[in-house]
Amino acid sequence: MSNSTLVHPDIVKVLLSEEALLARIRELGAQITRDYAGRKLLVVGVLKGSLIVMADLLRAIGPGVDVHVDFVAVSSYAGAASTGTVRILLDLRESPEGRDVLIVEDIVDTGLTLTALTETLRAHKPASIEVCTLLDKTDCRQTPFSPKYTGFKIPNEFVVGFGLDYEERYRQLPYIGILRVS
Ligand code: PRP
Repeated sequence: MSNSTLVHPDIVKVLLSEEALLARIRELGAQITRDYAGRKLLVVGVLKGSLIVMADLLRAIGPGVDVHVDFVAVSSYAGAASTGTVRILLDLRESPEGRDVLIVEDIVDTGLTLTALTETLRAHKPASIEVCTLLDKTDCRQTPFSPKYTGFKIPNEFVVGFGLDYEERYRQLPYIGILRVS
């Protein structure tokens, strides 16, 4: 076992292994490749949590889609509790006007971030806008929101790894793990 695959002592349970995550991301990439075949697609990663899934999802989208990549940064959390407010910290560099846009997220929880972000981007008149999230905590919704592409629906546990953090830690873990609450 390499150092990167040793389970971190703060993790009580590995919920999704690296193998399961990569296999599902490949399926999502194949679905996106079919859905956008022959089209241009602006893939927008929401920093920071999406950084790992973005890297893997982009490589799973076939050459039949003309992909451009951009990022936004938003902030909606302080520690483990949702503040309910969304701040856009970094805006797109590419204009979404008239483009097919796919927002990529690590997790949808309350749905407040994606609701605010899609509304903000819709003001720029994209041709279409959809969301792909690796994880979805459907039990935690505070506003109705349904991503078109979902990797895994997960229970209401505090999870980290594969880009997800707790106070900026654990993003590098190659699996999704449930964090020990002490
Ligand atoms: C996470 C995640 C989403 C948001 C989802 O980001 O990446 O952007 O929370 O939560 P919601 O559905 O309750 O709005 P976070 O604010 O933790 O920032 P990060 O991506 O930089 O870790």
